[in-house]
Amino acid sequence: MKFFVDTADIADITALNEAGMVDGVTTNPSIIAKSGRKMAEVIAEICAIVEGPVSAEVTATDLPGMLAEGRYLRDIAKNVCIKVPLTEAGLRACKTLSGEGTQVNVTLCFSPGQALLAAKAGATFISPFVGRLDDIAQDGMDLIADIMTIYMNYPALRTEVLVASIRHPIHLIQAAKLGAHVATLPPAVIRQMYKHPLTDRGLEAFLADWKKTGQSIL
Ligand code: E4P
Repeated sequence: MKFFVDTADIADITALNEAGMVDGVTTNPSIIAKSGRKMAEVIAEICAIVEGPVSAEVTATDLPGMLAEGRYLRDIAKNVCIKVPLTEAGLRACKTLSGEGTQVNVTLCFSPGQALLAAKAGATFISPFVGRLDDIAQDGMDLIADIMTIYMNYPALRTEVLVASIRHPIHLIQAAKLGAHVATLPPAVIRQMYKHPLTDRGLEAFLADWKKTGQSIL
């Protein structure tokens, strides 16, 4: 399973990339706004750190505007992946940009039908938002299960399922059990997964016993 990080925080991206946890990065207009920086500048900096796809989202809502923004953003670096919303114009932009050899991430997916349309439009990634469905009392993971079933029924569909809006490690584990190709994770969720109280307690006991020996390894 590929791990993307869902952030524009350069310090987090750098540290997690050095730990081997970053196969790509996703951003959205809210994440860029939080960075307080210009989109093109922050995307260029992330692309210089990370080899995998870095999603940069268009903000136009009409087809000509999406195409113009998408073409501008993709020229920033060879690993830019253009993110478009799951609207009719967004899927038309997806079809055109993917036909030009650009990676496209279709975002704001909330139904299996939408995911099927995105695959037909040639999306590289479809981003179903699990957390936001949970927020309205629908099980977001049911959507991942449905999309995986549909895509696996038609192996000619090449679109990868990129599980988004992940809020905690259980989302990630459930998505992995379903065979989702990618999860985009807030850095805090990755850091939560390192932790286990039995790891801490075990290490404490080992070090206490080691101290009693008076030895040092080096
Ligand atoms: C990533 O591509 C999405 O924009 C992101 O995961 C949304 O997460 P949120 O629902 O926590 O804002």
